[in-house]
Amino acid sequence: MQLAMDFTEAFPTSAKSNFDDLLSRVQSNSEHWSEHTSAAQRRRSGQVFTPIAMARQLAALYPMSGDSHRNLSDPGCGTGILSIAIAARLQERQDTSLNVVGFDTDTRLASDWLSAWDEFRDISNAPCRDSLFQCFLQHADDILSGTCLGKPRPSIITLNPPYKKLARNSNLWKLLNSKGVPVPNMYCAFTVLAGEWLADDGDLLAILPRSFASGVYFKSFRQWIRNAFSVEHVVLYRSRSCFGQCYTRECTRPTKKTPSNVASSYHSFRYTNR
Ligand SMILES: C[S@@+](CC[C@H](N)C(=O)[O-])C[C@H]1O[C@@H](n2cnc3c(N)ncnc32)[C@H](O)[C@@H]1O
Repeated sequence: MQLAMDFTEAFPTSAKSNFDDLLSRVQSNSEHWSEHTSAAQRRRSGQVFTPIAMARQLAALYPMSGDSHRNLSDPGCGTGILSIAIAARLQERQDTSLNVVGFDTDTRLASDWLSAWDEFRDISNAPCRDSLFQCFLQHADDILSGTCLGKPRPSIITLNPPYKKLARNSNLWKLLNSKGVPVPNMYCAFTVLAGEWLADDGDLLAILPRSFASGVYFKSFRQWIRNAFSVEHVVLYRSRSCFGQCYTRECTRPTKKTPSNVASSYHSFRYTNR
């Protein structure tokens, strides 16, 4: 496991790429929707967009290999910044054909996702197919039975999951509990489903609040991570200066967190499926 202690040192300083303009446009789309979404709506959907620097940094944790085809998924994809950043990194290093599957319940974002991938195809040298679905959680049964969408399991899943409560008596809670993972909230449920869906030896690149790292409440989730994954990288964000305005806006949520500790309460990870 590598622990990147200093964001500035870990931050990739790659040369200007053909995908920079596309990524900037995707970030502008995120900012647009951030501005046009009320705080109440954001809380309901658990929506906080990842800034471009953080998406790039997460993508940089992905190890390159010789595979010339990848299945990539982005549950809770928003405008697509995480999967576009990973796809761009893959393309910058070698021509890689891609099947990308996104999920988001916010249908306002669908046309931004579709046009981002259209633009990606215009720039990329290799074939890329994208599809977009709505609720990721609706596929929980199929994920756990290994039949999700009738597609091969993704070799890369990237996640910045919604931060919301999960009712203890909900069908999803009961389903995951019956598999031995009584998840305490939505971000854990997304992570468990993503992990169960991932192909063997696949990679999960996730941005998670660090709340799960301690306390009895998250004990079974931590146990599940230990059993399912080998943790390859952990990046701890310690300073608000790491974040663009998307995360700064998060501070306006009426939580008990103060602006000075919000940014430091996130980790991003690369896990490899055992
Ligand atoms: C924290 S945001 C991250 C968005 C995007 N991945 C990014 O990094 O900018 C989580 C996203 O999950 C979406 N979402 C919430 N519940 C969902 C569900 N049940 N299925 C799929 N997406 C969902 C929200 O609409 C929101 O866009």
